[in-house]
Amino acid sequence: MYQSKIAGAGYYVPQHVYTNQDLTRFMDTSDEWIQERTGIRERRFADRHGETTTTMGIEAAKMALERAGITAQDVDFIVFATLSPDYYFPGCGVLLQREMGMGEIGALDVRNQCSGFVYALSVADQFIKTGMYKNVLVVGSEKHSFAMDFETRSRNISVIFGDGAGAVVLQPTTETGKGILSTHLHSDGTDAESLAMYYPGSHANKWLPEKPPFPEQELGGLFLTTEQLENGEARPYMDGPAVFKKAIVKFPEVIREALAANNLTTQDLDLLIPHQANLRISQYVQQTLGLRDDQVFNNIQKYGNTTAASVPIALCEAWEEGKIRDGDLICLAAFGSGFTWASALIRY
Ligand code: UT7
Repeated sequence: MYQSKIAGAGYYVPQHVYTNQDLTRFMDTSDEWIQERTGIRERRFADRHGETTTTMGIEAAKMALERAGITAQDVDFIVFATLSPDYYFPGCGVLLQREMGMGEIGALDVRNQCSGFVYALSVADQFIKTGMYKNVLVVGSEKHSFAMDFETRSRNISVIFGDGAGAVVLQPTTETGKGILSTHLHSDGTDAESLAMYYPGSHANKWLPEKPPFPEQELGGLFLTTEQLENGEARPYMDGPAVFKKAIVKFPEVIREALAANNLTTQDLDLLIPHQANLRISQYVQQTLGLRDDQVFNNIQKYGNTTAASVPIALCEAWEEGKIRDGDLICLAAFGSGFTWASALIRY
């Protein structure tokens, strides 16, 4: 049986930097509030016309492929994680396949929001372990800026999120004890609506009258109305405190689970790369697990929460900064909408 190793990682962040101060031009907020509650100083927003979730994913993928020493034609399978796809359907995987001139390989899209990348990595890992594929491209990319509401009514959400992309190439290795040691995936849909974008969606039909007044209304539904767009219902919704409370329990739990499954402890951990949800969440997790500052990587200060892209961007930056060396024990962990949460333990 093979194990998967990360053969190359890449990332891309858009050029446009928006500081907290810049956001005060659109809504009632302040640099002080944002930094105190989230640790975020600035974020990147994609070019409105020229960049999409797929184009950013492609830039990250190119870097990952180059570092893995392979070409787009060598890729056997794509797993693309995002909550902000270019189209409602089809997903970004096929768009990336087309634009990068890849063969007629499989392309799978993963919708697990902030846990999307770790879920995607776990899926890719299974394909490598069984020997089915040799080069799997895993991408996490988000263009949040196109769907966010930059009015004061949504300030608790729009100050947190940023755009960007990250990617890795997974390859098989036979080196004992190297690569992805295990992955752990969880969900609990009880509070699915606490962090969600409700429209457009098939549930909208429940708001229609049971007996349609006109026969032509027997089929179809409220896909998206002008009213929903105007009153902000068709924008992301978040009960921030509810998400925070659950995150600080589930992050440590899934990290401990990964370590325990491999008979390791927090002292063995060289670097924890948590999904960059909120610096306060990461600090809480660090404290709960008793980790030193040098055992936890954070870059949310520069990019905000880039959801499916945050873990691979952080992984890539940590590697570039020399914080991940050969043989290091790395834990990736994520928590987000669903709720879903996940971890991956990797011996680099
Ligand atoms: O990746 C997973 C996705 N999400 C998360 O991980 C988010 C988890 N939650 C959080 O990070 C925090 O809940 C937030 C940073 C979103 C919010 O912080 P909070 O301390 O939970 O604030 P709150 O929502 O309880 O709001 C406190 C106050 C409210 O004012 P009042 O009612 O006390 O007068 C809000 O209206 O802060 C106000 N507020 C703001 N003020 C200035 C909310 N957003 C802002 C803002 N600027 N951007």
